[in-house]
Amino acid sequence: MNVMVIGGGGREHAIVWCLSKSPRVQEIVCVPGNAGTLSMATNVEADISNHASLIELVEQYSIDLTVVGPEVPLCAGIVDDFHEVGLRIVGPSASAARIEGDKAYAKKIMKVAHIPTAEARVFERVEDARGYIEAREHGFVVKASGLAAGKGVFVCEDVEQGLQAIEQIMVDRTFGQAGDKVIVEERLKGQELSVFALVEGRTIYMLATAQDHKAIGEGDAGPNTGGMGAYSPAPVATPEIMATVERDILVPLVDAMNNDGSPYRGILYVGLMLTPGGPKVLEFNCRLGDPEAQAVLMRLESDIIDIFEALADGDISELDIRWKPQPAVCVVMTAKGYPGPYEKGQTIEGLDAVAGLSDVQVFQAGTKQIEQFTVSCGGRVLGVTALGQDIRQAKRRAYEAVDSLSFNGAYYRGDIADKAIAAMSQTSH
Ligand code: AMP
Ligand code: GLY
Repeated sequence: MNVMVIGGGGREHAIVWCLSKSPRVQEIVCVPGNAGTLSMATNVEADISNHASLIELVEQYSIDLTVVGPEVPLCAGIVDDFHEVGLRIVGPSASAARIEGDKAYAKKIMKVAHIPTAEARVFERVEDARGYIEAREHGFVVKASGLAAGKGVFVCEDVEQGLQAIEQIMVDRTFGQAGDKVIVEERLKGQELSVFALVEGRTIYMLATAQDHKAIGEGDAGPNTGGMGAYSPAPVATPEIMATVERDILVPLVDAMNNDGSPYRGILYVGLMLTPGGPKVLEFNCRLGDPEAQAVLMRLESDIIDIFEALADGDISELDIRWKPQPAVCVVMTAKGYPGPYEKGQTIEGLDAVAGLSDVQVFQAGTKQIEQFTVSCGGRVLGVTALGQDIRQAKRRAYEAVDSLSFNGAYYRGDIADKAIAAMSQTSH
């Protein structure tokens, strides 16, 4: 069959890579794709917010199934528009995608369903938000309610930082309409965990776990990014924790969404903080994480098209997904300046040498091909991903590959997977 993938980041390169290994997939079209997808797919430059033009591509390329990587088209109703003309597509409806696109809605659903999450208040007026923050003492978190590419969340130490966050979100409008509402919530402490599940109405199928590294700096210092690296599985996700997450978070969530008239069908991402009081939800996302997908999909043994078809056709109950037992580590290399304004147009060296390494994949993100050169064109440029017999070996392989790759101004964190290594050495004592 022929498959169209929407998106052009590292996650979409990883999806295309999995599809390219499927004996059931003939043609792959990636919109817009990047220099990495070029060797496995036909890249098509098109405006992904124009759903009618994407529907035309389905006809033009005889596409049987469409897979959506990023949240923006999902929240904008791409699935509804495809369904309206009878096309097969993987992902939640716009109404269900609000679980990511509208954090105030997500908080409301969590309250109704008694799902453990940080105490939060939602504000629509800047004076109210300021007044609330001025009365606070302890650490808190300020979030734009809408989509902000992972950058609309400010973990604040004091009132001054909180007021600055309000200024950026509600006054400067750094994230546009996403800042119409702001959420101020209790700051949770603990280890983070990303859990992925397939959801179809009330049926839940748990996928592999991962841990992201959101902050730009080592030791989780500095502002948040889209994600600086990931590993899978996350050793903190014990069977007990996973059972709690399913019972106390996923089951009540999908029930509440059904009752609310927004049944969920697609991949659901649960961002958690493992607090001393148990797992609490930081956020829900309506898609695979980026860069978590790069680490998770590196471990997928089953044919990804079986998963996508089951989701598109609404029957996930028969799935039996197999994973490689080896852990995977993904290290993100970014452009100079990211997550602020960043440099573009730098030539990337070393891709051919790394392509020959076994159990290493470079999932490209902000890249494009200009003649024989692969050139940076985004903030997150490469997701260098490796499997290993254990997490230490996976980390070592990933960083060896990173050392062979270069572009002007390249930056990466050196501590990706250190938390997993620490957790493993604790349990082995
Ligand atoms: P979100 O997009 O809501 O997951 O937030 C992005 C990141 O900000 C999370 O992955 C955490 O690192 C941090 N964060 C969000 N909410 C909280 C919270 N309530 N307490 C502590 N850290 C948070
Ligand atoms: N890595 C975080 C996200 O995809 O939202």
